[in-house]
Amino acid sequence: MQSRYFTIHDHPQGMPKRDLFKLEERELPELQDGEVRIRNSWLSVDPYMRGRMDGVTTYIDPFELGKPLEGAAVGEVIESRNSRFKEGDKVRHMGGWRDVAQLPGDQVEALPEFDVPEQAYLGVLGMPGTTAWVGLNIIAEMKDGDNVLVSAASGAVGSLAVQLAKAKGGTVVGIAGDQKKLDWLESQGIKAVSYKGKGAKQLSEDLKAACPEGFDVYFENVGGDCLEAALNNLRVGARIAVCGMISRYNDQTPSAGPGNLAMILIRRARMQGFIVFDHWEHHGDFLKEFASRVASGEIDYQETVEEGLEQTPDAFLKLFEGGNQGKMLVKL
Ligand SMILES: NC(=O)c1ccc[n+]([C@@H]2O[C@H](COP(=O)([O-])OP(=O)(O)OC[C@H]3O[C@@H](n4cnc5c(N)ncnc54)[C@H](OP(=O)(O)O)[C@@H]3O)[C@@H](O)[C@H]2O)c1
Repeated sequence: MQSRYFTIHDHPQGMPKRDLFKLEERELPELQDGEVRIRNSWLSVDPYMRGRMDGVTTYIDPFELGKPLEGAAVGEVIESRNSRFKEGDKVRHMGGWRDVAQLPGDQVEALPEFDVPEQAYLGVLGMPGTTAWVGLNIIAEMKDGDNVLVSAASGAVGSLAVQLAKAKGGTVVGIAGDQKKLDWLESQGIKAVSYKGKGAKQLSEDLKAACPEGFDVYFENVGGDCLEAALNNLRVGARIAVCGMISRYNDQTPSAGPGNLAMILIRRARMQGFIVFDHWEHHGDFLKEFASRVASGEIDYQETVEEGLEQTPDAFLKLFEGGNQGKMLVKL
């Protein structure tokens, strides 16, 4: 059985170029005791993968040059030498960026049986959905009626964060990059503010116009001007959940932090970073609260789908150009 997979053979400088990614093919070794072979049907591409390309250990190991890239995927077991799995089982695992994965069974989990499409377990009911839930409930300790600001608000994490926040009342404002995304936010009852072509000062004024009383919670996905503008619009006692800073992931030299960091002091605010996998014990609670709302259509989760394994690098690169609305996925 052949497996086709993507590798990188160098560490990118700045925004990766398409030719960084090589599509390779190899014959898979015979299946060992305890292993399963999976035909992937959906691949996830995520912003954190950019950091894994730098050859540096952060909260996760870097990708190894010349080895298959990794990422979340769902697929169907096509061969099993593990008693927990049989042919035809639908599973989720980290052997993405390839069409056929072969893994030890303890690195594979059966998909839960909610009435949702299987790719939902890569987005709304997977890591991004759990991230939105953890960031708001555990890190920002959002309370009923809080005013909430979310950046990258129509992306995989952000589009769920705004809906979760909206359900608890208060004014919810989302920052996004283009008109289609702003329209979608407004269709959800979210006040939408564009950041494109504005500096922090103008963005700050636009946020003030959208929510003059200021924000109790800022769900940070972007960094840079968004963070500076958000700091100017905090209420006393605000909580900032630092989920990501995508505007910085391709920086080649460290950029200056916001000049108004003293707003944390002035507004007696708390700013806390988090990695969702440190809080994975909440995934079960999240599924219990969220899965039926997703299955009933109450949650309007968005997907952007690229078709074919060959499109995986393009799908990944589009994350940094705003080329996705909701979860970016590759369908095989
Ligand atoms: N801490 C954790 O455990 C955790 C888990 C998952 C994700 N994250 C982080 O959460 C953030 C969102 O991730 P996601 O998977 O949901 O991705 P996403 O929001 O679906 O996709 C990325 C979006 O970021 C926006 N963006 C890209 N470059 C930007 C820039 N320079 N300035 C402003 N906006 C920019 C784009 O939307 P626009 O069109 O609006 O620009 C793009 O669609 C990322 O920072 C990611 O690293 C963290």
